[in-house]
Amino acid sequence: MILDCRVKPGNDKYAAGTNSSMTTSERQALQALLAWYEAMGADEAIGEAPLDCFASVTQPLAAAPLAPERMSLGTRVAPSPSPSGGASAARSSEAATLAELEAMVAGFDGCPLKRTAKSLCFARGSEKARIMLIGEAPGRDEDLQGKPFVGRAGQLLDRMLKAIGLDEGQVYITNTVYWRPPGNRTPTPQEVEACAPFLARQIELLSPKVLALLGGAAAKSILGSSEGIMRLRGKWLSYPCATGDISALATLHPAYLLRNPAAKRLAWRDLLALKAALDAS
Ligand code: URA
Repeated sequence: MILDCRVKPGNDKYAAGTNSSMTTSERQALQALLAWYEAMGADEAIGEAPLDCFASVTQPLAAAPLAPERMSLGTRVAPSPSPSGGASAARSSEAATLAELEAMVAGFDGCPLKRTAKSLCFARGSEKARIMLIGEAPGRDEDLQGKPFVGRAGQLLDRMLKAIGLDEGQVYITNTVYWRPPGNRTPTPQEVEACAPFLARQIELLSPKVLALLGGAAAKSILGSSEGIMRLRGKWLSYPCATGDISALATLHPAYLLRNPAAKRLAWRDLLALKAALDAS
């Protein structure tokens, strides 16, 4: 799909709201077109030139397992071989620091989300954090600011963390994908897999004591479990990392809590469990 949101040369009546010669029906047609674009997920103008979102990417999609082994509720399974993912997985392990990894992700063209996003949202928080939180995908506010969890869900997350005595200087926050999916749709398994080797290396480099997986998508991606978040949440699992197993707890996504405030009761229990694990580590 090619979306051309440019002002037509020589026809400035398409500069919405600035030209009084536009008729009511032209204005309505333009508003209907913009509403259609927005409903299709094109709710940001990301550049001057039109973009073909479906054009093939220059680099093949990486499809590598996230961890050396994945754990599915107590059962460790060997990773499935990934014919096309070796290149990006190998590259990610070359990053010696989180800054190097971020630069590598910024130069990576294997995830199509990069083409439609404004910014890379790599992480926010402290590289010395003992707790790493992983969400699903950046949204509109995150794309505008280039940082994960800075919108409404992020503000709730910050309040939740504050309730257990943690601020941005003590946590490290990222997502399963580093770019906003158009219209905030769920990232596809291919998009998650393209970013997975980088996320695995990010976990390895940060080497946190505790992983908090925010919502079903993060839990599924990190733990390789097909269980729903309601069954998974609140249980301590182990994420096999090259530097040693890391305790991982899945909990409810803050965006879900905004829509279902009654579920905050469950999230509070998970937060207390996270705090206890940090205190004990
Ligand atoms: N939801 C997420 O999962 N991640 C963000 O960064 C923002 C909202």
